[in-house]
Amino acid sequence: MTSRVFSGIQPTGQITLGNYLGALKQFVALQDQADAYYCVVDMHAITMPQDPDQLKERIKDLASLYLAVGLNPEKSTLFVQSDVSAHSELGWILQCLVHMGELSRMTQFKEKGEGKEAVSAGLFTYPALMAADILLYQSHLVPVGEDQKQHLELTRDLAIRFNARFGDTFTIPEIMLLKQGARIMSLDDPNKKMSKSNPNPGSRIEMLDPPDVIRKKISRAVTDSDRFIRFDPEAKPAVSNLLTIFSLVTDQSIEDVVSAYDGKGYGDFKKELGEALVAHLTPIQTRYAEIRNSGEIERLLHLGAEKARATAATTMEAVRKNVGLGS
Ligand code: AMP
Ligand code: TRP
Repeated sequence: MTSRVFSGIQPTGQITLGNYLGALKQFVALQDQADAYYCVVDMHAITMPQDPDQLKERIKDLASLYLAVGLNPEKSTLFVQSDVSAHSELGWILQCLVHMGELSRMTQFKEKGEGKEAVSAGLFTYPALMAADILLYQSHLVPVGEDQKQHLELTRDLAIRFNARFGDTFTIPEIMLLKQGARIMSLDDPNKKMSKSNPNPGSRIEMLDPPDVIRKKISRAVTDSDRFIRFDPEAKPAVSNLLTIFSLVTDQSIEDVVSAYDGKGYGDFKKELGEALVAHLTPIQTRYAEIRNSGEIERLLHLGAEKARATAATTMEAVRKNVGLGS
């Protein structure tokens, strides 16, 4: 049996190089080996306030980027979460299974809720909906960045608890983390992850940043106090982050990049990193513009939703029966 892969990204803000290297690039590699489902998780996006018109556009932006980086709708099922109502349905059932204590230990909730006057209940129960996303498709593998590890562990716990209480219903999913690239750090502070919600745009490379912006952001990226280019995430987190990015976008090992810059300064290194990023991202940006303007994206998403609905319906039938719901 081919294994089932599931992952999702929220349509909030511009997709960063961190999302790409930590998640999207793996999605593409996996579509040739597995039966992959990739979702635009718009229901998760509304756990924080969103402007409706902007959300609509961002859903299509993100789906277009899925295609531009190389996801192929003939190989993978690409769809929007809210197009498949079973996500909300199973999300509710899992909310009734998860414990308040488990949800309050989630670091993403603590970080996103911190300092806010009003936090939605949806932000708190977010992991139950995420577990529903994954379990609906009987997924084996979930490729994500390191920040999602805790949510995945909770998903596994919920699947095990559900199966024990109601009989075998769900496949227990495994998390798939990339070794390098699982956590790309901010360009202005190597102790924080690169994020689309950081107020400083200089902290991240966005997938659609024009070449000059990419070059400028890299040239301004912070470095560490000595002048040596070596990989040591503890002692030299900033340079190590830039080395990770360099190695991933040029498909070279970190050792090869380090030896190529032996005896050279940060100036040359950053200049060439900027060029390598521009060379890697320009073809993606060209494809993105073609796809986003083609009007094809809605049709593809409708087809994807139909396929997803059919798979989800089979799981929901078993869930309802096992839990004892319905007339
Ligand atoms: P989000 O932006 O929170 O919707 O995240 C979408 C996916 O990108 C998730 O799998 C995250 O783990 C991954 N991701 C987000 N930021 C980074 C980062 N800085 N480094 C690596 N992966 C990331
Ligand atoms: N919570 C994930 C994030 O913020 C997005 C997400 C929602 C997801 N549902 C998922 C990721 C299911 C993997 C599988 O990045």
